[in-house]
Amino acid sequence: MSAPHEWITRAETDADIPAIREINLAAFNTIEEADLVDDLRTDPAWIEGLSIYSAGPDGKPVGYALLTRCHVDDTPALCLGPCAVLPSHQNTGAGSAAIRAALEAAERACERFVIVLGHPAYYPRFGFTRASESRIRISIDVPDDALMALSLGSKELPSGTVRYAAPFGI
Ligand SMILES: CC(C)(COP(=O)(O)OP(=O)(O)OC[C@H]1O[C@@H](n2cnc3c(N)ncnc32)[C@H](O)[C@@H]1OP(=O)(O)O)[C@@H](O)C(=O)NCCC(=O)NCCS
Repeated sequence: MSAPHEWITRAETDADIPAIREINLAAFNTIEEADLVDDLRTDPAWIEGLSIYSAGPDGKPVGYALLTRCHVDDTPALCLGPCAVLPSHQNTGAGSAAIRAALEAAERACERFVIVLGHPAYYPRFGFTRASESRIRISIDVPDDALMALSLGSKELPSGTVRYAAPFGI
């Protein structure tokens, strides 16, 4: 198994867009997340430099993590997702590498808060905690432990309802 430090991580360029689409198509086995990423790319929620891929020594993208603008009530935050890894490379650290690189890039960009709706067994390793503990809610019915939040600095997480970018349809 490869360790995370063996993965190269980079912000996407136009040349990477087809490979990122392939990762999302393969990881989710449906067109939805791949189309979502393409829709987000032309949405005001898109932030340059926060669409990150991980690649092995050959430079071929295999893992992916995206951060886009969302709000908790009126407080700006970032939404993490989709996160995806080619099935042939899952569980080898490619996802973690892309996510950690995306969070580091967000911190460098002075972003403060990140929200994720996902697997409660996976995201706590990056520091995410149950969002409901900070009175952060979502307008759709999801398991309480699936909505998680992270403060990138020392600021206390805001409370309120997560407002996603329009392409999420939430
Ligand atoms: C989820 C995903 C992004 C994780 O990336 P990855 O590179 O495979 O995972 P990593 O190598 O970074 O980490 C491995 C760990 O993740 C866990 N993991 C992998 N897929 C998981 C899943 N679907 N649910 C919960 N945990 C998962 C593994 O059990 C392993 O845990 P351990 O370290 O405690 O043994 C990737 O497996 C994937 O693309 N899955 C299909 C699409 C998907 O479900 N995306 C996330 C939507 S929230």
